[in-house]
Amino acid sequence: MALKTTDLTSNIGTLVETDTATLVSGAVSAEICALIQQRGVLVLRGCPMDDAQQLQFTRTLGPVLDEKSGEVYKVTYDPRESPDLWFYTPGNFFWHIDRTDSLVPPFLTMLNAKRLPDIGGDTEFANTYAAYEALPDSDKALIDRLKVVHKVEASFRFVPDLSDQQRAAFRAHEPKVHPLVWRHRDGRKSLITSTSGIEIVGMRQAESEALLQRMMDWATQPQFVYVHKWQLGDVVMWDNTGTMHKAQPYAKDSGRLLHRTTVIGDEPFDAGRELVA
Ligand code: OGA
Ligand code: MN
Repeated sequence: MALKTTDLTSNIGTLVETDTATLVSGAVSAEICALIQQRGVLVLRGCPMDDAQQLQFTRTLGPVLDEKSGEVYKVTYDPRESPDLWFYTPGNFFWHIDRTDSLVPPFLTMLNAKRLPDIGGDTEFANTYAAYEALPDSDKALIDRLKVVHKVEASFRFVPDLSDQQRAAFRAHEPKVHPLVWRHRDGRKSLITSTSGIEIVGMRQAESEALLQRMMDWATQPQFVYVHKWQLGDVVMWDNTGTMHKAQPYAKDSGRLLHRTTVIGDEPFDAGRELVA
């Protein structure tokens, strides 16, 4: 079945016009999986889904991640909605790839807008394939074999008002080392830039910080970015292996609530390591 699609920017983001029943049936899921890897972000509008439908649709795309809070994770600041995990929410305001504390990150994540703030709270996405491809050859050569230490606590280093409980939870995660350039199995390359990336292995601190910042600034230039302005019921999904994302500021007491489901990935960050000499 050919999906009706409209690209939202040239490098990232495509609107898919379909309906809830078609999505849940799985009839277009193979096409969606292929498209999301080309376009980074897919937007479904006018396809309202309750939790059961969202889960059913997500299952047609691959194995669903069971988070501590269950298969539907509530992205919110509201402790009544997410008593244990709301304290991870402030990390969402900084550019990141989800789960850089793992070796095999999620493939695809889906957010379903249930409550929205009056002001702010758009979500931005950057295409890390397009950003890599557009780098000058000199930079591609410079970063080709670099490795970066990622720490969960680094993802929160710009958050001003962390509690001791938050700090302890973040520090409990083991650091991970990932290449700066992701060599994907299909031969494409993307940048692994994320606020969690704190240090380039074997490089002096000032030089390392400057290069990581320069790559982050590069990858988040407007030509690589799609900004999603939410409407209630929107379902937005991203390829977590080829994009970064972040939330724009919104009031903590706004009640903003997105229901998230995640498809487990099968491609390690260093998938291509064995292929290079
Ligand atoms: C997430 C996330 C961004 C947002 O759920 O992983 O980063 O806009 N969300 O809430
Ligand atoms: Mn995220």
